[in-house]
Amino acid sequence: MTRGADMGNGSADYRDAGLAFGEDFLFGSATASYQIEGAVHDDGRGPSIWDTFSHTPGKVWNGDTGDRACDHYHRLDEDLDLMQRLGLEAYRFSIAWPRIQPTGRGPANEAGLAFYERLVDGLIARGIRPIATLYHWDLPQALEDEGGWANRATAEAFADYARIMGERLGDRVAVWTTLNEPWCSAYLGYGSGAHAPGLMDGAKALAAVHHLNLAHGLAVSALREVVTNDPGYSITLNLHVIRPSGPTGQEAARRIDGLANRLFLGPLLDGEYPADVIVDTAHVTDWAFVKPGDAELIRQPISLLGVNYYSTVTVRMWDGESPRVNADGHKDMGGTAWPGSESVEFLEQPGPYTEMGWNIDPSGLEDLLVALHEAYPELPLMVTENGAAFADELVEGPAGPAVHDVERTDYLRRHFAAAHRAIERGVDLRGYQVWSLMDNFEWGYGYSKRFGIVRVDYDTFERTPKDSALWYAELIRTRRLPD
Ligand code: NOJ
Repeated sequence: MTRGADMGNGSADYRDAGLAFGEDFLFGSATASYQIEGAVHDDGRGPSIWDTFSHTPGKVWNGDTGDRACDHYHRLDEDLDLMQRLGLEAYRFSIAWPRIQPTGRGPANEAGLAFYERLVDGLIARGIRPIATLYHWDLPQALEDEGGWANRATAEAFADYARIMGERLGDRVAVWTTLNEPWCSAYLGYGSGAHAPGLMDGAKALAAVHHLNLAHGLAVSALREVVTNDPGYSITLNLHVIRPSGPTGQEAARRIDGLANRLFLGPLLDGEYPADVIVDTAHVTDWAFVKPGDAELIRQPISLLGVNYYSTVTVRMWDGESPRVNADGHKDMGGTAWPGSESVEFLEQPGPYTEMGWNIDPSGLEDLLVALHEAYPELPLMVTENGAAFADELVEGPAGPAVHDVERTDYLRRHFAAAHRAIERGVDLRGYQVWSLMDNFEWGYGYSKRFGIVRVDYDTFERTPKDSALWYAELIRTRRLPD
């Protein structure tokens, strides 16, 4: 999604109106299996690519792994009670494929199914709507050994896994999400190497894009065949909000919009890959992995599009002579990892920044939601992730330990206000899942970045709701952004 470089930086103020959210708007919070569960050897779980990657020296900050993470697997009831105390109306979680099929194929592992059944039933018992993501990056290692997402067979295996989950939980889950941020799986996993499996191969990254799109379509079809309630079907994308800079900005924006946004939106919603991106990437791949009939398989009707939003990028074309600018560190891509757009420069963003170094720009969320609504007016949207890492401090207060995370609260307040502005501009926004319910394993950054509205002590696993959680509970209770 592209917009002019001169647009404001979230200047509209939330205070000028009492911002009420409708009764059906689903306030919730999100997590992902590998980031919180731990218990990587329990109950027959097989290894995933993130086990392998995090145990490879030099890949993750401080050598951190998800071996214990937040120990959520062993603290499920406590965490469910916590969600209820905060008043969450929805909980977005992911299912670890290797707990269900330890090698990515074959019969389901009953203990794995039972865990997610306990989670879903526990949510429902507390009046919380389950939003289940089938894939949040923990691919069974055995499938990676056969080529992972660069291999078409992975998409077919994914459909079998989706069917297993639909058969077991397809009478209870409110919203099924096939994939979380396939952009990251493809480009960071197979292009820049910042994420598991850590490959640096542009052709494989683009093959992975296609096979992830295919996996989504096949999984939606498989789910539809077996579920018995009437759930939402969705995919969650991290669409890039792109600002062009200078005379070459539009060309750079077209290229990055193509690779980051249109390579997903095109096949998923319009039934075709964008022709200009096929041309841009011709020196990287011939796209022979796209087979006749794939377009129909991918373009399955969905009832919701999940939007993850954190920050924006500003781009222009490199002139080939000046020192190369690459301020794209926050996307973990490195300067030459965009296959087919090697000469796009990512410029420094205006601040302020979160602890990730990501710029804070709530108006980007408003723009993105409005642009999506204009492009796909019939498709309801949900913010499936938004939140911020800051350097929290645990203090001893009169009522016990506390975290006065003023910056996170302000970040959330301003983004909720931006979402509200989008709603007022006609966007059909169904809900908002704050990232994250609790501090967790932040991929390549390990435990060094804390996104939670609940603090996790990684020695005792004690949970402490931060001030942002208390603020959020109040927002949910009143359905109105307080002044
Ligand atoms: C996107 C991912 O879905 C999630 O796993 C990650 O922790 C957050 N963004 C923050 O980087």
